[in-house]
Amino acid sequence: MRIVVRAFMTMFVCSAAVVHAQDFKKQVIYQIVTDRFYDGDRSNDNPGESPGLFDATRKNWQAYWGGDFAGIEQKLGYIKGMGATAIWISPVVNNENLNCATAGISGPYHSYWNRDFMNIEEHFGDNTNSFAAFDKLVGSLHANGMKMIVDQANNHSNPRNCGEKGSLYNNGTLMASVDNDPKGYFHHNPNVPDNGWDDRYLIQYYTLSDLADLNQENPDIDAYLKSSAALLQSHGVDAFRLDAVKHATWGWEYSFANSVFSNRPSFLFGEWIFGGPGDALYPDAEKFANQSGISLLDFGMNNAMRDVFGGDKPFARLDAVINTEDKDFTYPNDLVTFFDSHDQSRLLNLKNNRDRLHEAMAFLLTARGVPVILYGDEQYLFDTGNDGKDPNNRVWMSTFSTNTKAYKLVGKLAALRQANDALAYGLWKQRWMNDDVYIYERQFFGDVVLVAINKSGTASYPISGLFTSLPAGSYPDYLGGMLSGSKLTVSAGSGGNDAAADVTIKPHSVSVWQSIVPASGPQVGSIGPHVGQPGMTVTVAGDGFGTATGSILFGSAAATIGAWTNSSVRFSVPSVSNGSYDVQLKSSAGAAANTIRFTVLAAKLVPVTFTVRKAIPTNPGDYVFLAGNTVELGNWGTTFQTAVGPMLTPDHPDWFLNVSVPAGQTVEFKFIVIRKDGSVQWEGGSNHTFAVPAGGTGSVDVNWQP
Ligand code: NOJ
Ligand code: NOJ
Repeated sequence: MRIVVRAFMTMFVCSAAVVHAQDFKKQVIYQIVTDRFYDGDRSNDNPGESPGLFDATRKNWQAYWGGDFAGIEQKLGYIKGMGATAIWISPVVNNENLNCATAGISGPYHSYWNRDFMNIEEHFGDNTNSFAAFDKLVGSLHANGMKMIVDQANNHSNPRNCGEKGSLYNNGTLMASVDNDPKGYFHHNPNVPDNGWDDRYLIQYYTLSDLADLNQENPDIDAYLKSSAALLQSHGVDAFRLDAVKHATWGWEYSFANSVFSNRPSFLFGEWIFGGPGDALYPDAEKFANQSGISLLDFGMNNAMRDVFGGDKPFARLDAVINTEDKDFTYPNDLVTFFDSHDQSRLLNLKNNRDRLHEAMAFLLTARGVPVILYGDEQYLFDTGNDGKDPNNRVWMSTFSTNTKAYKLVGKLAALRQANDALAYGLWKQRWMNDDVYIYERQFFGDVVLVAINKSGTASYPISGLFTSLPAGSYPDYLGGMLSGSKLTVSAGSGGNDAAADVTIKPHSVSVWQSIVPASGPQVGSIGPHVGQPGMTVTVAGDGFGTATGSILFGSAAATIGAWTNSSVRFSVPSVSNGSYDVQLKSSAGAAANTIRFTVLAAKLVPVTFTVRKAIPTNPGDYVFLAGNTVELGNWGTTFQTAVGPMLTPDHPDWFLNVSVPAGQTVEFKFIVIRKDGSVQWEGGSNHTFAVPAGGTGSVDVNWQP
């Protein structure tokens, strides 16, 4: 494995100098199920390595239908023309080759049944599993100023109960299968039971729907998964959507993110399914997003949007979710937002009403977060079979019209995201609401976007008493009446509350009013990643930085600047002590911007499994946590959000947890119990110490000190 890693490093040095900004807030992501999009290369439809999994008639929903990288590349003009600036595609690495059905076909067309994370799926590329077609696609994307987001499934390989039985390969060399696993590459546990989905141990260590569960604490698997990501990065991948992050080992994922960010700038967002802020593991999701550097798909907003636009719930449902999440997530503008996905029935299945689809799209593209449009929504595609659920939501992209209203709507609002920083970086404020009408504002310094949506098909609403941060003036509907919007007149008020003249909002309408004020000084809207060790490359984005190089300060320490433009600065984290910093950008003239929060790690992260045996008695709702002397260990924090944990206790009263800690450092720590009522009980004795290895993985096993 070591040799492989070194080969990748050489590739980094040789690869062309593409600028990879970590700031994804200005992106509009187009999600593609690669197999279902466009068949650009007939020669890979039924490849020799895995014959018989293809259905040329496109009737068997569990078979490959022919879509491939060449097809996406051929349709790049269509995708770019819609205003999308990034694509998120199915996992690209090699899938299992055998049929998983005894009658008919069940194949990995969706690409989540990987066998070899070190080369490319032959149905998408070519018969030799080479990177050629993938590289060509990435090259075309970058030439068009677009970004490549690859779906990566670290949790599992392929099904253990059919086909190749989980078999895992390292660029063609068999490593193990579930039935022949001498080195412990897999967890061999039952499926997560129906009542186990809120159990922190079961969801990480049991098996997700018979998908062979990888053991990320094993040093070979740790190196393998990180090498796979590095390999893809060396082929130009700009960002990853991480599959099933709730089911892989959480602590290990911090080190995975750190490994990706240490290779080169990137953006990471994970699939952590949660119903909303009331979900049992919502506090864990919040902590994970705030600390790991991995942002999350916003399932809270997704559920609320589907209830409101795909059903008839009032806007208060959506408003409540956004208000709560904006308080809980440190970087809400980094959450990745969506109302449709390849795992859900499409909005048109929930409510076959194109006006509602347009309203949902307009909301998504103006709300906070990085928006994702699922392929085919802009063509109003949906299939009614199986209630439109998986697999019938993965429709064939049968038409590529550039004249649909949805296609044009995405284009208009994607352009606004580039032009008006309020959409990418702005705060969120509700300005007026009833069951059918939602008026909200985004604001970033002088840049303001005010949006009014009426989702009723019949009721017009006269709106009075509306206030806004838009300056006094007269505002046409930015959408030019595309969705029946109105114009707005604003008169001067005070304290960011200017009075809007009474306005009538028509049924099924969206109005967008906006104003841009050139920055008079530096304004910071983004930092990415928001956690890393000294030396890591980080990007700050915003406006008004000036063209002459200024400074980036961590306390009194200045970072080394790699590149400086009026809207973005690339720098490397200075050698300061670990902890949380309010990073300060100053223009060359010394004008100070607003600060933005960044966590400096003590060193690169190494995953270590901490075990404490014979802990003191606990009652239901009490948990053992880990507290320690570096930021990775919570700097002796003793609350749910600041200590490390909760730890897991399948063998009570022993507790364990995999935690990413600073490589090569000797850390001090203790175990604590945080009781249900929040009170804290410390272990006795002196602090434990542990010399973290310089690389690989580690483990430490101690008894609770009474
Ligand atoms: C979530 C993905 O989105 C879904 O499509 C997939 O089947 C599972 N994870 C397992 O990889
Ligand atoms: C924090 C640490 O200094 C630890 O060593 C100590 O046990 C606790 N405080 C309790 O005093």
